[in-house]
Amino acid sequence: MNNKEKIFLNKLINKYSKEPRGKYLLTPDSFSNDDIIQGISTLLKKKITMSDVTKKFEKKFAKVVGAKYALMVNSGSSANLLAFFALINPMKKKRLRPGDECIIPSLCWSTSLWPIVQSGLKPKFVDIDRGSLNLSIDQLKKKITKKTRAIMAVHILGNSTNMIELNKIIKRKNLYLIEDTCESLGSSYKKKKLGTFGDFGTFSFYYSHQITSGEGGMIVCNDKKNYEILHSLRAHGWDRGLNKKNQKSFNFINSGFNLRPTETSAAIGYSQLKKLNKFKKIRSSNRNKIIKKLQSSKKWREQFTFIYPAKNLDPSWFGLPILINKPYIKKKRKFLNYLNKNFIETRPIISGNFINQKSINLYKLNQSKEKFPNAQNIDDRGFFIGVHVNPISNKELNFLENKLLKINEI
Ligand SMILES: Cc1ncc(COP(=O)(O)O)c(C=O)c1O
Repeated sequence: MNNKEKIFLNKLINKYSKEPRGKYLLTPDSFSNDDIIQGISTLLKKKITMSDVTKKFEKKFAKVVGAKYALMVNSGSSANLLAFFALINPMKKKRLRPGDECIIPSLCWSTSLWPIVQSGLKPKFVDIDRGSLNLSIDQLKKKITKKTRAIMAVHILGNSTNMIELNKIIKRKNLYLIEDTCESLGSSYKKKKLGTFGDFGTFSFYYSHQITSGEGGMIVCNDKKNYEILHSLRAHGWDRGLNKKNQKSFNFINSGFNLRPTETSAAIGYSQLKKLNKFKKIRSSNRNKIIKKLQSSKKWREQFTFIYPAKNLDPSWFGLPILINKPYIKKKRKFLNYLNKNFIETRPIISGNFINQKSINLYKLNQSKEKFPNAQNIDDRGFFIGVHVNPISNKELNFLENKLLKINEI
């Protein structure tokens, strides 16, 4: 694409991409014009289906996170689905069997949980740690039984559990570890990237995440056989693209789905990946500024508790989780309505204590929410606001201070 064409496209993009003003959004879009131009160029070349750019993105992604293999899919949910269907696949040695148990924190996302059920395994919920929002190692130790074969660790909002302790348990008990890193791309524990501790690490590029390709996801692993299983499951069960010699073109070696990304998403994702570190730094600085602004305000009365990174973690934040303190907890609903009316977007911390969701009853996984007091505490007191990829202005900081610290008065 020459310069003249780029200038033309830039003008066109600027004309069509206006964001609402005066609102503190959960996620203003983080696309630069160049990200969009990269996507457009796949369309101009009529190369929309997965091809060379997807491969280039996968290679680069694997390098950035420090994994041997990375495979792009159409969402983080699909990445989780592939992880569990790889674990039960007949090609896998020591595969999981129907009814085997997989432990998962009760503060999780829907598609962290459902692939466990969809693959015939039995989820077993464990409570979280109040400080990090991630699965509690003490509770985990109590929940492991002879039937436990896997752990789904969900790295919440850029934070993690104690990965050293988790690793010790995994090794001692000979368990599979899947890391749902959909909210934590770029976080490192003792300099090792989250998503690379276990058998599989999964990532999401939905528009609100650390980097975005609109829709999209990635799954990483270090084992060649696992990679080959994921590769065949991603597209129809065939071996196309696996570089086997004497390969017929329609060779179906496995069962499968179609979870392929588009080349357009891959081009946008590749362009965004270059900015991961920059985004991470700005988000972290914005988060610190917001907390400092609130805590140093004349109106600060300890209304809120903030979440801090786990020891040894260099976090890549996704949102700013906030817990309402006593005596304001009962006002939560009214307060969130007030914020919404006053142009501050909020959302629950993931989906709260997942035990409370209706789908849990539908699949007869019900249990008392009191068994998970820490996840319930987050459900009762928590919400989050965005941390953006552009440096926060003083105007925005004052706006947040005025509105958030009104909780005493409403
Ligand atoms: C922890 C977690 N896992 C999985 C997903 C699913 O990702 P996607 O929206 O790309 O399917 C999300 C989505 O936000 C998530 O937060």
